[in-house]
Amino acid sequence: MIKGARCGVRSFFSLLYVFRCECCRITYVKDKGAIALALVKIENLRKVYKTAEIEYETLKGMNFEVEEGDMFMILGPSGSGKTTLLNCLSGIDEPTSGAILINGVDIASLSDGEKTKFRAENMGFVFQAYNLINVLTVKENVALPLLARGLAEKIANEKAIEVLKAHGLDHVINKFPSQISGGERQRVAVSRALAGEPEIIWADEPTGALDTKTSFMVMDFMKELNEKNHQTFVIVTHDEKIIEYATAILRIDSGQIVSFKRVRESGDFARILEDERS
Ligand SMILES: Nc1ncnc2c1ncn2[C@@H]1O[C@H](COP(=O)(O)OP(=O)(O)OP(=O)(O)O)[C@@H](O)[C@H]1O
Ligand SMILES: [Mg+2]
Repeated sequence: MIKGARCGVRSFFSLLYVFRCECCRITYVKDKGAIALALVKIENLRKVYKTAEIEYETLKGMNFEVEEGDMFMILGPSGSGKTTLLNCLSGIDEPTSGAILINGVDIASLSDGEKTKFRAENMGFVFQAYNLINVLTVKENVALPLLARGLAEKIANEKAIEVLKAHGLDHVINKFPSQISGGERQRVAVSRALAGEPEIIWADEPTGALDTKTSFMVMDFMKELNEKNHQTFVIVTHDEKIIEYATAILRIDSGQIVSFKRVRESGDFARILEDERS
């Protein structure tokens, strides 16, 4: 359940197509008659970068859906628009046009304050370069987004310890990022993204700085959490070796969708790879 939609009237108003909740001041847009909404729905998404001399259309009108519980992978060559797409989806960047609905919430309809709150409560982020703060311990790094959400320091620290222990990272709790391995750093970054129990985790090249063995370790870790907690991961990568973890594979090039394949059953994956090779 997306936080911010807790007012309890949402289910009642779900019979309507559009509803603006006066309590949390969020607009819910219901799909045409659909009972279950896609967790993320992208409609004709475009992003144009403008400089003094040129306009560069990085995303050229994309349409796709991410389902709840997906390990959704976005693949494409360098410069194809993967990071731009993820930044638009996660609200780090603003699209030029098109709609992004997250569990029916039209992100563009939120004020800056609402957007920040919505992101803090519903989203976690994992980056290629880990983005851990070196002067803080692992525990303090994981507690940081919880403090940003307004939790008291003691409670945030307790929660951070609980999450790190649950993720098998007991041995690094009081260490600094410089004192742990690359794989451990990325697992800490994933723990930090998950500490607030967000509905969606956005990950930009999470295995980009890791060797093969450590990449699989980090992916096993994310997949386990995805299966256990039903959290949805949207992962941007050009690392072909991790696509076996995907439930859906979106390939893009030059800002456009090249193909989209969904893995519904075991066996589908082998067929998808065969299709792509032929
Ligand atoms: N702020 C910006 N201003 C102008 N052009 C930009 C900006 N950010 C990205 N671009 C351009 O948009 C295109 C897509 O960039 P993006 O970073 O999304 O690619 P990517 O697929 O993530 O690449 P990589 O795999 O190398 O990380 C590139 O040609 C890039 O130069
Ligand atoms: Mg990128």
